[in-house]
Amino acid sequence: MDPVAEVDVEHEKAVAARAAAALVEDGMTVGLGTGSTVAHLLDALAVRGVAARYVATSPRTEERARSLGLAVEPFGSHEHFDVAIDGADQVVPEGWLVKGGGAAHTREKVVAATADRFVVIVDSTKPVPALRPPVPLELLAFGTASTLRRLAAVGPVRVRPGAGPSPDGGVICDYLGAVEDPGALAGALGSVPGVVEHGLFPPGLVADVVIGRGDGVEWRRVAGPG
Ligand code: 5RP
Repeated sequence: MDPVAEVDVEHEKAVAARAAAALVEDGMTVGLGTGSTVAHLLDALAVRGVAARYVATSPRTEERARSLGLAVEPFGSHEHFDVAIDGADQVVPEGWLVKGGGAAHTREKVVAATADRFVVIVDSTKPVPALRPPVPLELLAFGTASTLRRLAAVGPVRVRPGAGPSPDGGVICDYLGAVEDPGALAGALGSVPGVVEHGLFPPGLVADVVIGRGDGVEWRRVAGPG
């Protein structure tokens, strides 16, 4: 039997989300990511009922958070968040992440970079020995065809089928080439004019990775900001 088939992924997401929700205390400012693991986080935060101030990385997170009674504010003039909590598509032992399966990686990276502590919550299928494609990209809508031609020098990229524009009007694409050196690839993708953001998150951005495993969590400390 396939061992992965036995993993109760939704349960593990909820377990990791509950563990991270316990970090949130009254008066904190909190960045909220996007995705199905974050949906569990929102549930857990609503149950905790702490008086925190939240900023959401996507309209769907904002809507769900508000429907649960969480106090969502515009990003506005927040200089920092005490903590930001978000999911990921892949995480390697060194702390590099791939994010953007939900097409929200640009806002997610901005919020993560604004947080004193960026905490990643995943189920046990997300840790991998080495990053692999796809790596999500957001391109400026202006001149997309030209940007795609320049990106071809880095590797194969396609517009994500069925993906509409990002909340900021960007075109969601995926880089499909090899990911041998994440730092070098991040540099190459980020240096192409017209690339708004890529889904490679460096270990320096990540403080903690909380992995749901069965009924428990594995808590990994990463380099973190600063
Ligand atoms: C959205 C993301 C998500 O955090 C990532 O895709 C993981 O999603 P999920 O929790 O649904 O597995 O980066 O842009």
